[in-house]
Amino acid sequence: MKIEVYPTCDSVKDLSGKTAIVIDVLRATSVITTALFNGSKSVIPVLSVDDALNLAGEYEGGALLGGERGGVKIPGFDLGNSPLEYKKELVAGKTVILTTSNGTRAIKASESAEHVLIGCFLNASAVAEKALELASRSESPCVVVVCAGTLGEFSLDDAACAGLIVDYLASILEREKETSKFSDLAFACRELFLKYQNDLKALISHAAHYRRLVRLGFERDIDYCLQMDVIDCVPVYDRKTSEVKIGS
Ligand code: MLT
Repeated sequence: MKIEVYPTCDSVKDLSGKTAIVIDVLRATSVITTALFNGSKSVIPVLSVDDALNLAGEYEGGALLGGERGGVKIPGFDLGNSPLEYKKELVAGKTVILTTSNGTRAIKASESAEHVLIGCFLNASAVAEKALELASRSESPCVVVVCAGTLGEFSLDDAACAGLIVDYLASILEREKETSKFSDLAFACRELFLKYQNDLKALISHAAHYRRLVRLGFERDIDYCLQMDVIDCVPVYDRKTSEVKIGS
């Protein structure tokens, strides 16, 4: 089993035959995981505000519009990009059309993968297990963790979460006595996570995106997104329908 990490969505290459886990801890993949955990029917990631508005038109008011630009809610949208907004009473049974600056781009950039899973700290252990289960069915098994990054730049929050997921993958593979090969970046992310696992906020407070979110007043979102393994579901992106739903 090969384990790789890509630092940004712009660095993603052809992922044919691989199982991808897309991460945008702050905050898109934490939003998607929370919305689906709270009963949302599906989340449809789209690249632009225009794409979101056009698709919402097709739903004739039957879908919620969510997302951000510059971290803040897009004018006219129902929801921003704070996971705390995606409450059961608002999202249960609803389709959410979501566009964000990096996270939804990272999902689209990973479309060539055999399987595309959505990961974050909230569901890290569940997504690691599911990824190994799916990847082990392939002839050349490979799990690729795709960090969204921030506006084309490496982001510490995604790297730390990639490290946690790599650590889970490594533990399962060791337990099952499977041979494995970790890319240099997978190794580095794991070491980073292990060094800071007891005080993630101390690490992530150095991230430019963390500072931006604090400036915008979203510190509660950060505390929420840094919780580990509190959600046991794995969102799966289906490139045929362009929808993310809870995997079976
Ligand atoms: C993104 O997808 O760019 C991020 O989730 C931005 C944000 O935190 O609002």
